[in-house]
Amino acid sequence: MTTSNQRLDGKTALITGAARGIGLEFARAYIAEGARVALADINAEAVAQAAAALGPHAVAVQMDVTSAESIAAGFAEALAKLGKLDILVNNAALFSASPIVEITHADYERLFSVNVFGTLFCLQAAARHMVARGEGGKIINMASQAGRRGEGLVGVYCASKAAVISLTQSAGQDLIKHGINVNAIAPGVVDGEHWDGVDAFFAKYEGKAPGQKKREVGAAVPFGRMGVAQDLTGMAIFLATKEADYIVAQCFGVDGGNWMA
Ligand SMILES: NC(=O)c1ccc[n+]([C@@H]2O[C@H](COP(=O)([O-])OP(=O)(O)OC[C@H]3O[C@@H](n4cnc5c(N)ncnc54)[C@H](O)[C@@H]3O)[C@@H](O)[C@H]2O)c1
Repeated sequence: MTTSNQRLDGKTALITGAARGIGLEFARAYIAEGARVALADINAEAVAQAAAALGPHAVAVQMDVTSAESIAAGFAEALAKLGKLDILVNNAALFSASPIVEITHADYERLFSVNVFGTLFCLQAAARHMVARGEGGKIINMASQAGRRGEGLVGVYCASKAAVISLTQSAGQDLIKHGINVNAIAPGVVDGEHWDGVDAFFAKYEGKAPGQKKREVGAAVPFGRMGVAQDLTGMAIFLATKEADYIVAQCFGVDGGNWMA
């Protein structure tokens, strides 16, 4: 039941990469705050199942953020289903790891096409709608602590997330005159299927046993454990509300103190 104290009452959102992990948790949290949400993902079957499980305030959109045509079609479908768009969360991303001397052109293209091209042109699609509609909006980009520092085995991913932070700073300054707030969230280490993959990369390159890297990074977080997706929802909701109207072009660490340490 919708109540007046829901912080996103009447709002609509599109979240990319929402079939699982952090994007799916954000969709759940936004719906709990009264929003209707389009879950967009390249994985059509998984996103359809995820949206169905969230109930009538969730709709599924199959969208590949590396394709301009798919972005256009995905936003058109989301707008047809939601009627308008108040909030975009640019969340879809890929991770990879390898020593600098082993980075391939294909890996660079693969990561940058999702993490940078996807972020920029989904942001542009949302901004065009929001500018034309004239009622402002909120755009939240998922950055990472990896965008604030290099990491020996994670060069491509770190560079792609640095680009996300830079795009947030540029778009934030350009779009605020339209009442569109662009900000970013930089998580630290968040447990889930994504980190199962990260753990496997480190097992390969650092000779660690499966699960060992996860335990090590969790123990190193000043808070005392890895994050979970629910640790991030408070910031994702806040940045989408009117309370965040004066916050422009910022990147907020939500990482249990990890980057600072
Ligand atoms: N998990 C972490 O430790 C962590 C840390 C820092 C930042 N982040 C960032 O948070 C965000 C979410 O991370 P997560 O852990 O939930 O990741 P995840 O891998 O669990 O989920 C990513 C989703 O993006 C989708 N996706 C991949 N390519 C796509 C494409 N071309 N088009 C549309 N969708 C596509 C996948 O199908 C998947 O559902 C990412 O931007 C990630 O870089 C995560």
